[in-house]
Amino acid sequence: MITLKSTREIEIMKESCKMAAKTLHFLGKNLRVGMTTEDINKMCHEYTINRNGIPATLNYHGFPASLCTSLNEVICHGIPSKKDVLKNGDIVNLDVTTIYKGFHGDTNHTFLIGDVKPEIKKLVDVTHQCLMAGIAVCRPGARVGDIGAIIEEIAHDNGFSVVHEYCGHGIGRVFHEEPQITHFGKRGTGVELRPGMTFTIEPMINFGKRHCKVLEDGWTVVTKDRSWSAQFEHTICITESGHEIMTTFSPDEWTAEDDKI
Ligand code: MF3
Ligand code: CO
Ligand code: CO
Repeated sequence: MITLKSTREIEIMKESCKMAAKTLHFLGKNLRVGMTTEDINKMCHEYTINRNGIPATLNYHGFPASLCTSLNEVICHGIPSKKDVLKNGDIVNLDVTTIYKGFHGDTNHTFLIGDVKPEIKKLVDVTHQCLMAGIAVCRPGARVGDIGAIIEEIAHDNGFSVVHEYCGHGIGRVFHEEPQITHFGKRGTGVELRPGMTFTIEPMINFGKRHCKVLEDGWTVVTKDRSWSAQFEHTICITESGHEIMTTFSPDEWTAEDDKI
């Protein structure tokens, strides 16, 4: 079942989405070489609960942390660990999901740590382009296949591959709901977009082949060929005239309070 949110529900959900966006921005600003991914988890947890939010991933189907931290060849669902130290040249995806006033906001960003190889920077850039191009086609009457088609085109034109096994998703009071938003597909096919739909787009793009593998911890998804992988995610809503990105804020909305844990 696809839930259409009312104008009032969308207004509340924008608050949870803004909190997730600000949390992600705060974490990005505070990344340093030598920090562990567990340090990031602690910051995310504190930042969220101090603002009366709930980190949605904590205990979600048994996930043991307040965000996912996915380094280099990790595609998604990386578990923060004291053993994973950020080093110069790494890329790390931080995936923050916040529950506030009963609604979820879900967003992620791949951050560059120090001097990253040009070809990896290009992977990260192209992945961001894929997300923004997928968002750009969203409006009433468009179809889910239109989103996947443009993402796949951009990734392939640049020699990269698209992960098939993990998708964007409807979101609201529930973390993962219908529809599934695949990051590949055929134009003019799939669910038709309608005003009031809220969902994520979160392409995972690999430098090498698209295939993936889940590690023995039951969560960490890595590329089968161990090539590096990037991802970006926004939660959006479909409006009468097009779409709105919900997991964002304008620079003038960032206050001194937002820089404090
Ligand atoms: N935030 C992820 C997403 O974009 C889901 C993480 S679920 C977890 O859908 F259990 F791995 F944390
Ligand atoms: Co998501
Ligand atoms: Co997410």
